[in-house]
Amino acid sequence: MQSPIIETKELTREYRIGRDLVVALGGVDISINQGEFVAVVGPSGCGKSTLLNLLGGLDQPTKGNVLLDGQDLAQLSEEQLASLRRQKMGFIFQRHDLFPELTACENIEFPLLLGGKPPVERKKRADDLLGQIGLAEKADHLPDELSGGQQQRVGIARALANNPQILLADEPTGNLDSATSAEIISILIQLTRNQGLTLIMVTHDPEVAEQADRKLTLRDGHLVSKERFEIEGML
Ligand SMILES: Nc1ncnc2c1ncn2[C@@H]1O[C@H](COP(=O)(O)OP(=O)(O)OP(=O)(O)O)[C@@H](O)[C@H]1O
Ligand SMILES: [Mg+2]
Repeated sequence: MQSPIIETKELTREYRIGRDLVVALGGVDISINQGEFVAVVGPSGCGKSTLLNLLGGLDQPTKGNVLLDGQDLAQLSEEQLASLRRQKMGFIFQRHDLFPELTACENIEFPLLLGGKPPVERKKRADDLLGQIGLAEKADHLPDELSGGQQQRVGIARALANNPQILLADEPTGNLDSATSAEIISILIQLTRNQGLTLIMVTHDPEVAEQADRKLTLRDGHLVSKERFEIEGML
């Protein structure tokens, strides 16, 4: 059986608010293979963003572990974690977080700049991605000069720039109309499938979740359904 790219063990995140204990995630065990597209679904407040942030090492668990390629994120220093995120992970959020003063091309190049890639290589990769997202002619536009859907496409390209193994997307089309949203999702799925990337996406949209290989349903911080997972586990 394939070994998982990302795995959680009893993953728990609690918040103490005054005398109350909020259990955002209450001991979740999941295992995701390289190349899988997994949709994370469930009602508002059930812990979807909490799970995604923990998987990406953007937040630390109260209890339990996240293993990336068998490596426990909790064992890493801040610096090692930041470097791992840069090399292996891409993030896409609901509201794009492009740098307003950088052009589309420069935004896509940014992670490569951080990774120390030379200018020619950065430009080549950014141009290639701009072509793949159908925005070659908008390379020199600032985010303000792009539509919401175009901005989100640049966000996807930026997340893919350094060839991550895992793409974490938290309601990447939450702010867009349904036609634009469908278009963005299909670009995202196509790009990740082509490159054999693991895509973990939080979505409220049942039609999007249907396209995933597997759906993880959360309720009140607990996993209620690991569709298809049980069957895979028995093989
Ligand atoms: N910083 C925080 N402090 C206290 N409680 C928090 C904090 N962040 C999240 N929570 C609580 O944790 C629970 C899970 O939140 P989370 O953001 O993961 O939900 P979600 O499933 O992403 O919801 P939505 O669909 O609305 O984005 C909620 O009850 C929320 O109030
Ligand atoms: Mg959320």
